[in-house]
Formats: sequence, structure tokens, C-alpha cells
Amino acid sequence: MFYIFPTPQAIAEHLSGVLLQKIQSNPKSVLGLATGSTMEPIYAAFINQAKSSGLNLSEITTFNLDEYIGLAPEHPQSYYHFMQTHFFRPAGICTSQVSLPSGMCNNIEEECLLYSQKIQNAGGLDIQLLGIGTNGHIGFNEPGTPFSSVTHVVELSENTRRDNGRFFEDKNQVPTKAITMGIKEIMSAKEVVLVATGSHKAEVMAHLYTTGIDEQMPASILKEHRQIKIFIDEAAASLLPMEAKLAI
Ligand code: F6R
Repeated sequence: MFYIFPTPQAIAEHLSGVLLQKIQSNPKSVLGLATGSTMEPIYAAFINQAKSSGLNLSEITTFNLDEYIGLAPEHPQSYYHFMQTHFFRPAGICTSQVSLPSGMCNNIEEECLLYSQKIQNAGGLDIQLLGIGTNGHIGFNEPGTPFSSVTHVVELSENTRRDNGRFFEDKNQVPTKAITMGIKEIMSAKEVVLVATGSHKAEVMAHLYTTGIDEQMPASILKEHRQIKIFIDEAAASLLPMEAKLAI
């Protein structure tokens, strides 16, 4: 379940290869995607590999985990903007192939319902990529979120707003709410890959390694997924107990 790599780049190269093979064997793959710093080298490596192998991306469908409420798609910190910049535009993926929850809709409850239905109508997710918050969140499912949750509105925790403040000029500009895919939808993906890199993720990874299944640690439910892989670099693995490293 836990796999340690020397560097974030080594994870990026490996995971890109996994995605590439998946799409080669099923050009209509449905990908669940994440944003954030962890994903940047992964998307960059994937785009390189996809271009050099001439991979056909025209039939894939993608669903992102989450979006801030109150940020328009063109806002530089919206997740739509992140995905266009780091993945969709450089990879040549059309807007008709991609879905993110809308943070600017009039009826947010309806948006959540429609997003859930859209994932189901696409046949569910073949693979879901995840980062992890320093508080253990996956998507924006903060500690305490029921494991049975589907796409919903969340009040972002102070921890998450502080962590994500690095992307905004002023930390007070970090939205207070977001729409996120629920834990049930993440768990319904056929395969899940969680990636954690950097020493700032060491504590949460040690907690994840040792904890039982606990709604206060949202990522802990992944231990029950039949096809879960957790890719961490050495910095994020630095606080894992020694026996864990040997076992890995
Ligand atoms: C983003 C998302 C979040 C991030 C997590 C880690 O779409 O769902 O769960 O994956 O906050 O973010 P980074 O990679 O910036 O440390």
C-alpha cells in the first residue's frame, strides 16, 4: 500500500507511466484529478511522456475533486485555472472532456447533485489521483466528514485555509467554502493513488500509517480500498516508524 520513492520527480515519472498505460489500454478512461503543488510535477511528467509517445488523449474524460466557492474559472487561484495551466491546455485536452464543480453557480445544492450524477453517468472513475492535506483531508473532505458523503459543500478548516494561503496575495482572500467530491465517490473509483511529498507531509503520513479507520483522519478510509497505492517521497516518509520502512 505504501511505496517510498527517492524524490517527487521519481514518483511523477512512475505515476505518469501508470496513467499512460491505463489510457493506452483504454482510450476512454475516466480520470479523477486533483490540484495542488503535489500534482504539478506529475502533470508535467505525464504531458512529456504523452507527447513523446503520441498518446491519444482525445477520448478521455476527467473529473476534478474540488473547486473553491466564489472563484470564477478565470481567477488565477481557481482550480479550473490551475488545471488549464498545468494540464489541460499543455496536454491539448478539450474543455468538453473535463469537469470541475462550479464554484459560481446559483444553486449550489443542485450543482453538487448534478456533479455526482455526471460522475455516475460517465460510468464512475477508473482511477482517482489524490494529494493529502496536512490535516489528512482528501479532496476538501476535512476531518469529521462522514465516509458516506457524496459531492457537497464544505466549510474549509483554518488549517486548510492557512496551508493554501501561500497561493494568495493575502491569506484573507482564501475562500471559506468549497465544493468537493465526497469520500464515497472517491472510494467508488476503481483505483486510487494518493501522493504525498515533502517534509511538511511527514507528520500526516506517520499518522496515516499508524491510525485505524477514523473519520477524524479522512484519508484513513483508503486503507479499505481494494486498489489503493500510496506513493511518498523520502521526505514525507521520514517520520514513518522504522519497521514500516523495512516492511515497505
Ligand atoms: C486539491 C485537493 C487537496 C490537495 C491537498 C494537498 O484538489 O483535493 O486535497 O490535494 O490539499 O495539496 P498540496 O498538493 O498543494 O500539498
